[in-house]
Amino acid sequence: MSKQIKTIGVLTSGGDAPGMNAAIRAVVRKSLTSGMKVKGIKRGYLGLLNEEIVDMEAYSVADIIHTGGTILGTARCPEFREEEVQAQAAELCRKNGIDGLVVIGGDGSYRGAQALARHGINTVGVPGTIDLDIACTEYTIGFDTAINTAMEAIDKVRDTSSSHERCSIIEVMGRNAGYIALWTGVANGAEDILLPEKYNFDEQELINNIVRSRKKGKTHHIVVNAEGIGHSTSMAKRIEAATGIETRATILGYLQRGGHPTCKDRFYASIMGAYASDLLFEGKSNRVVAYTHGKFVDYDIEEALNMKKGIDDYQYDICRKLSR
Ligand code: ADP
Ligand code: F6P
Repeated sequence: MSKQIKTIGVLTSGGDAPGMNAAIRAVVRKSLTSGMKVKGIKRGYLGLLNEEIVDMEAYSVADIIHTGGTILGTARCPEFREEEVQAQAAELCRKNGIDGLVVIGGDGSYRGAQALARHGINTVGVPGTIDLDIACTEYTIGFDTAINTAMEAIDKVRDTSSSHERCSIIEVMGRNAGYIALWTGVANGAEDILLPEKYNFDEQELINNIVRSRKKGKTHHIVVNAEGIGHSTSMAKRIEAATGIETRATILGYLQRGGHPTCKDRFYASIMGAYASDLLFEGKSNRVVAYTHGKFVDYDIEEALNMKKGIDDYQYDICRKLSR
């Protein structure tokens, strides 16, 4: 028989992402509507271990839907990988009356949620990361805002790059995944897009492209480089030495993680937060919320973690053809 959840906890874990606040707001308000109590856990799993737990009411999440970051704070907590720490965390949930938990974060955070489920706490994960690197879902909270922020920044670099007739290497985030680079590379009309999933580390090919496009009369050459490849500054130096074309590196960095969430991030995060609350209310556990084929769905955490996704070959092919 499924467990009737009386009190839901909610935490954000791993890197923050714009839209996490919309998800927290939805968890809180949907859970209250269903008659459950809600507790906010500060600083992710670290805050759970330190019992940084606060009661949340509808007004606790007023005025946050438009804000970046996470009002609960987030942290990385490496010791949460240890079995006895996970058992202790489950005990602390019980001590604080938390029988269901929504974890907003990425794959790593889902592992923590899975461990808590093994220890008797009903858990549901919600995909929160700007990287879009969660295999079971086509949408993750924060990606849309991050790509729009990066796109605007790259437009600006392009202006100055063009005026000075330079080559610009612009490094975008994404950890080991190239989704931010793929989307912005296409949207910004970059001449080259380097993705960890596809890059063959043949810098000579890149150099040849830069020389060829200069000969064709292009006044700038924008290279969007993914963080997973990195080394943009040294790459810029080598390209300048090989081509004689002034080359600069710009690493966009953390500005991609902040700012007001886009409408899409506010909307999807709201639906996903509410969906997670509903799953717990129905007595489900060890699930993750996802968006696939136009629908919000949920999967078993283990099943979700075993899924694979990569850069679509057709999209990559198009992105290369459009950049020449
Ligand atoms: P993300 O959730 O974005 O993938 P991390 O990989 O940094 O980010 O994971 C966030 C947190 O989740 C970690 O700091 C840790 O507390 C917890 N976590 C990560 N991996 C595991 C694991 N294998 N088992 C239990 N908890 C984990
Ligand atoms: O996962 C989001 C992300 O911003 C990645 O793109 C990046 O690799 C990482 O987090 C940076 O993490 P930290 O905040 O620990 O420097």
